[in-house]
Amino acid sequence: MTHDAPDLPNKRYLATQQYRDASNLNARAALHIRYGTNSYPWFRWVFDQALSVAPNEASVLEVGAGPGGLWRENLDRLPTGWRVTLTDLSAGMVEEQRAALADPRFTFAVADVEALPFANASFDLVIANHMLYHVPDRPKALAELRRALRPGGALVAATNGAQNIRELDNLIHSVTPDAASAEWRASFRHPFTLENGAEQLAPFFEQIETRRYDDALDVTEPEPLVAYILSIDSPAFRAPGVNAAFEARARELIAQGGGAFHITKSVGLFVARRRA
Ligand SMILES: C[S@@+](CC[C@H](N)C(=O)[O-])C[C@H]1O[C@@H](n2cnc3c(N)ncnc32)[C@H](O)[C@@H]1O
Repeated sequence: MTHDAPDLPNKRYLATQQYRDASNLNARAALHIRYGTNSYPWFRWVFDQALSVAPNEASVLEVGAGPGGLWRENLDRLPTGWRVTLTDLSAGMVEEQRAALADPRFTFAVADVEALPFANASFDLVIANHMLYHVPDRPKALAELRRALRPGGALVAATNGAQNIRELDNLIHSVTPDAASAEWRASFRHPFTLENGAEQLAPFFEQIETRRYDDALDVTEPEPLVAYILSIDSPAFRAPGVNAAFEARARELIAQGGGAFHITKSVGLFVARRRA
């Protein structure tokens, strides 16, 4: 199998390798779920924000929905009047959504957020959770999200702050200073952050509000950290001895931290309304 270098943004790499199924995403989510300091789960919090801006009867779209984690974690409180369309660039992700959410309130489609297969003004709420940083032509995608929303409809767009998990980046850099992972991480670190996202949304949306989720990681075991790093899928990580070096460095950092390696998080979302 050929392997694209992760010179992102690169849709083919995203759809057929990094996100061909949920395994890489799950390795990263596992670290957050296991060692996050906020006991209120992320997906519950995101759903609270969505509930705060959408009516009880609503047509809802999630773009780049991955395996549908937001909905799996909130099925118990899905408003009976919501009809939800889940989409993703990756066919493998859409298969996972379909398998997990067999409920007539859901429909599914493989779709690129830069060219949505929906009529104008189809939705009351659009959710883009940790995906806009992957999109090569973000103004095109944001114009599509605006077009798909009815006038006055709401956007919920979650992303990271520029300082998110910086200690983990430093760990990676200390072991593989030249790794392509640096570009991979930078590719979604900087293009759409909690700090620079509002100005990108402003041509398409108004009443833009930033809401932050207070969290950090206190990691006490090296293995989930190494699994997280390997999910980044850099060719540099396949060199002999690299796994062992990551594990040894992780152990050192955990010991230096008195039994826990502290990792900063900066994460949250924008809530905004469609410009008329
Ligand atoms: C970090 S994952 C987030 C998944 C999910 N929203 C979540 O929070 O668990 C990013 C997702 O965006 C999808 N994606 C990337 N570029 C996309 C595009 N241009 N259009 C639609 N989806 C895209 C990926 O396939 C992947 O499933």
